[in-house]
Amino acid sequence: MTDAPVLDIRAVRKVYKAGGLFSAKTLNAVDNVSITLDPKPQVFSIVGESGSGKTTLARMVLRLVEPTEGTISLLGRPLAGKGVERISDFEFRRLVQPIFQNPFEAFSAYLPIESYLIRTALNLKIAPNEAGAKEVADGALRSVGLSYERIRGKYIRQFSGGELQRLSIARALIPNPRLIVADEPVSMVDASLRMSIVNLFKQIKEEKDVSFVYITHDLSTAYYLSDTVVIMNKGRIVDAGKPQDILNNPTEAYTRELMDAIPRLGERWPEIDLLKAAEETPSRTAPMRSRG
Ligand SMILES: Nc1ncnc2c1ncn2[C@@H]1O[C@H](COP(=O)(O)OP(=O)(O)O)[C@@H](O)[C@H]1O
Ligand SMILES: [Mg+2]
Repeated sequence: MTDAPVLDIRAVRKVYKAGGLFSAKTLNAVDNVSITLDPKPQVFSIVGESGSGKTTLARMVLRLVEPTEGTISLLGRPLAGKGVERISDFEFRRLVQPIFQNPFEAFSAYLPIESYLIRTALNLKIAPNEAGAKEVADGALRSVGLSYERIRGKYIRQFSGGELQRLSIARALIPNPRLIVADEPVSMVDASLRMSIVNLFKQIKEEKDVSFVYITHDLSTAYYLSDTVVIMNKGRIVDAGKPQDILNNPTEAYTRELMDAIPRLGERWPEIDLLKAAEETPSRTAPMRSRG
């Protein structure tokens, strides 16, 4: 056990070439971003419009892309470099799990879903044999409102997008990770099912020792779900804080634009009003107050 942050992103930059092969132009897809997640389980949201650098940042945290500058550490140990401190691939996959936007791409059409869950449990040495792996899979499935019995022998075509996203979450839970990075996990799920998936993140955070980096272009789900929100624009963090503070007192014009993109806040996501009432946050028409 360690008191080191679960995730520590320090002054990270990702520079891409822009404008074609022979152009000298570059683009800062992620520009000097620093984020720290203390060890307590939490949902940390990264919100921004398309092209703001969210996926690039997620891919660096998932070690799929290397930062041009800066460092990323997990539990005090760097993701990159040659030192003994560097986290091995095996350890990394046990500590950090991804959930992607398109649940249909997470599983092949030709294998029954349970084989993914079993393989994950065996590969990551969470269970010593197939019988143990089935038990682990069943536990993970029950955390997302499914069970091994219910999915046995089924293929992806037999599930809805919402169910497949639950299955991706179940697979992510198998190694009991400390961090789940979810990049736009509900943007391809039917609107009617989105809230149930989002609620699942909240529930899992509370029941298990796992934090979420939740990436979205939709401020309303981030507001509902998060302990902390950062707003990204053009690769930079432009606003950060507790969700109710950001909504009540956005410091950036850009944040206000994102808020205006939420049609009738509260009607589309009635739960937000409940949450607001519960936390007795001032209404949006209340006078601005300084951020504490
Ligand atoms: N592999 C790449 N090569 C060049 N440019 C890229 C690459 N990946 C992303 N970009 C650019 O970086 C910027 C941020 O993209 P991205 O991280 O996908 O943003 P978001 O997920 O917020 O939509 C965009 O301008 C995008 O075109
Ligand atoms: Mg993206």
